[in-house]
Amino acid sequence: MKKIVIAIDGHSSSGKSTMAKDLAKEIGYTYIDTGAMYRAVTLYCIQHGFFEGEKIKEEELKASIHDIDISFRLNAETGRPDTYLNGVNVEKEIRGMEWPWKGGKKGGFLATLGFVRRALVAKQQEMGKAKGIVMDGRDIGTVVFPDAELKLFVTASPEVRAKRRVDELEAKGIPASYEEVLENVKKRDYIDSTREESPLRQADDALVLDNSHMTLEEQKTWLLEQYHKAIGS
Ligand code: DC
Repeated sequence: MKKIVIAIDGHSSSGKSTMAKDLAKEIGYTYIDTGAMYRAVTLYCIQHGFFEGEKIKEEELKASIHDIDISFRLNAETGRPDTYLNGVNVEKEIRGMEWPWKGGKKGGFLATLGFVRRALVAKQQEMGKAKGIVMDGRDIGTVVFPDAELKLFVTASPEVRAKRRVDELEAKGIPASYEEVLENVKKRDYIDSTREESPLRQADDALVLDNSHMTLEEQKTWLLEQYHKAIGS
């Protein structure tokens, strides 16, 4: 069967990662979470003392950017890929509770640096060369794979996304204030879409999915339909 590249971009907390993972599993594609790659670079910087407060020692990071090896390996227990930084599983660390880009700090800042983006985009293009991938992020359909056969842009209202995030945190036993989370969601949207380097924007040929009022099942059905259309089956 014809293998394609599926590019999924969209707002934070829009549920695009869950969607992308489930789709990849269903159709036997490799899932690549590019947000995890930006997170892994941030972790590397923390481990190597490259942050001074919220500032980064750019020259030092530039000098070591090609020493940062990021890969994904399937976790047999979860059936999903875990992120490895220079051979070490960092999945827990990069998803951690007090993750530094809450409020768009360290990690959000790193994603604005052109040399970091260029290095990660090159790795992402290499990972997708053989096709048969579902890649999610902010710039996949616009920068990484502008020729992807299927491009999706996922969004939901900030209020719906904040509510989902609060429910998610509470399910993990982490109390969260809706107002605070909503403010955070809006801040992240602002940072993602106003940065100079590869801002989050919808590719002209992307299909938009606003899932504010959709169930997971409805989303899944819609997504599979788009996939079958794209491969012509
Ligand atoms: O989707 P996420 O929260 O895991 O992303 C982590 C950070 O990386 C966030 O600041 C957005 C940024 N990012 C990006 O700039 N480009 C991508 N392709 C993926 C994520």
